[in-house]
Amino acid sequence: MNIDISAKEYSVIFSKKGFNYLNNIVKNSNYSKVFLHVDNNTKKYCLDHFLKQTNLKNLELIESKDGEENKNINSCLSLWDLISSLGGDRKSLVINLGGGVVTDMGGFIASTFKRGIDYINVPTTLLSMVDASVGGKTGIDFGILKNQIGTFYDPKLVIVDPFFLNTLPKEELLSGYAEVFKHSMINDNNQFNELIIKKEISFDHQTIYKSILVKNEIVLKDKKEIKERKSLNYGHTIGHAIESLFLNTNKKLLHGEAISIGIISETYISSKLFNFPENKLKSIKSHLNSLYKKVEINELEIYDIIDLLKHDKKNSHGKVNFILLEDIGKPVYDKQVPKDLIIESLKYYLS
Ligand SMILES: NC(=O)c1ccc[n+]([C@@H]2O[C@H](COP(=O)([O-])OP(=O)(O)OC[C@H]3O[C@@H](n4cnc5c(N)ncnc54)[C@H](O)[C@@H]3O)[C@@H](O)[C@H]2O)c1
Repeated sequence: MNIDISAKEYSVIFSKKGFNYLNNIVKNSNYSKVFLHVDNNTKKYCLDHFLKQTNLKNLELIESKDGEENKNINSCLSLWDLISSLGGDRKSLVINLGGGVVTDMGGFIASTFKRGIDYINVPTTLLSMVDASVGGKTGIDFGILKNQIGTFYDPKLVIVDPFFLNTLPKEELLSGYAEVFKHSMINDNNQFNELIIKKEISFDHQTIYKSILVKNEIVLKDKKEIKERKSLNYGHTIGHAIESLFLNTNKKLLHGEAISIGIISETYISSKLFNFPENKLKSIKSHLNSLYKKVEINELEIYDIIDLLKHDKKNSHGKVNFILLEDIGKPVYDKQVPKDLIIESLKYYLS
């Protein structure tokens, strides 16, 4: 078996090869039970393909409700309860078939059940393929605050099959694209230039592969997010605050929609504090604005966003720490930004 991407403790393997690898793992590992974690959509759209690609028998299906609003402790309680009542023990395996909500939450319940059981991710959204399912971060939201509770816990394997994207709604594909684009911005000019000139976005094997490589290389350098891994949060300080603010409201945004606003604002801040090139800032704004709908943010909401920054997971000693860029591929870490400049950056997005 040749591995597509090696993440040291586990492998990321594409399509049929990945499913064969999964069959072998299950055959050779003597698991007491294999739980297949789906949500209502992946049960409908992805389960059939998954079952056809594997020869796994006697799977126990465990289902959670789709959506970020369900990535919480109540869903975990139901999942632990299900696993327990179906006879799960320390030698059980959880396979997560779904987007980032399923892989984050499924990874979290696996990492804590009986102090940790094996799990495998089979991402079915672009976002979970290039980002959420790799890197070993698991977690859930706490109230409206994103990813506040979680663990570092590696999967045994990640299987990436772009076939699943055929049923994914276009806006969800676009949501994942924000992370593909962010990876290019923190990586190098070649990848960035390739993307920024595109009017039509494609989500082929190569684009996905290159994007995972960026994340994987960074995680290999700094798994616990002491330094380099923080760069993966580019656009996310402001992006997460916006996503949290509108969660459970009629202005609810997809993760990537919020992150694209975060990228524009934080690139503006980068241009003011670290001379990020103006011409690239302008192309980034116009590229992202051509893909995502414009979100209206009023004066009051701007202050709410600033307030929510207090809860960002990169904060320490009461300070909000931003990742900024001197240029494409040149991150600077743990920078504090004056409140007025944050306000100005959101106004730049709105202009
Ligand atoms: N752990 C990490 O490192 C990491 C990194 C980035 C993002 N995340 C997390 O990922 C989550 C977002 O993930 P997401 O964008 O995949 O959202 P998601 O899991 O909510 O999936 C989006 C929607 O698409 C549906 N769906 C999934 N696959 C489908 C398919 N193939 N066909 C049709 N419908 C399908 C889902 O049911 C859901 O309704 C956020 O919670 C974010 O915090 C985690």
